[in-house]
Parts: sequence; structure tokens; C-alpha cells
Amino acid sequence: MSNSSEPKIRGLKSLRLIMEPGKYMYCACGRSNNNPFCDGSHIEETDIKPIPVTIKFKYEVRWCDCRKSKKLPFCDHSHRELPSYKPK
Ligand code: FES
Repeated sequence: MSNSSEPKIRGLKSLRLIMEPGKYMYCACGRSNNNPFCDGSHIEETDIKPIPVTIKFKYEVRWCDCRKSKKLPFCDHSHRELPSYKPK
């Protein structure tokens, strides 16, 4: 294990997905091959744990893809504060 405590930035905008009701595990480390959901990659690469999420009804979720949101797992537009962010 590399023991990195820094989450990996995957994208500089929210990841919008229409979600069905259910229980999900959000990847908080940014290393999953099934982004934005945990695939267990954190076990080998970091101490960061996934965040459990319950979706109660079908709607479009804006998942945080930069892992800097103060409202993880949901986007709060913190990606706009990152130096590499370029507004359209
Ligand atoms: S793979 Fe990222 S939290 Fe599990």
C-alpha cells in the first residue's frame, strides 16, 4: 500500500448520472476503475475509505469528480477553485 492520503482528481466538473434508488459506495479516493463508485482499489493504494450513499428516488445526481467538495459525495462546485480549472 502506498498509504497516500490525497484523493485523486478525476475531472474538473460534476459527473452527472441518473440514479435509481438504492445503496451505493462512492469512491472517495478517486482511484476506482468504476468511477464514481468504489471498486476496492483504495485497499491497495490509500487509506481513504468509500462513502456510503443511499439514493431514495430516481434523480440526476451530480457526483463530485474532483474529490474537493465540502459536500462529498456531491458536487459543490469546488472544482472551480482548482488552479487547473478552465471555465468554458
Ligand atoms: S476505490 Fe476509491 S474509495 Fe474505494
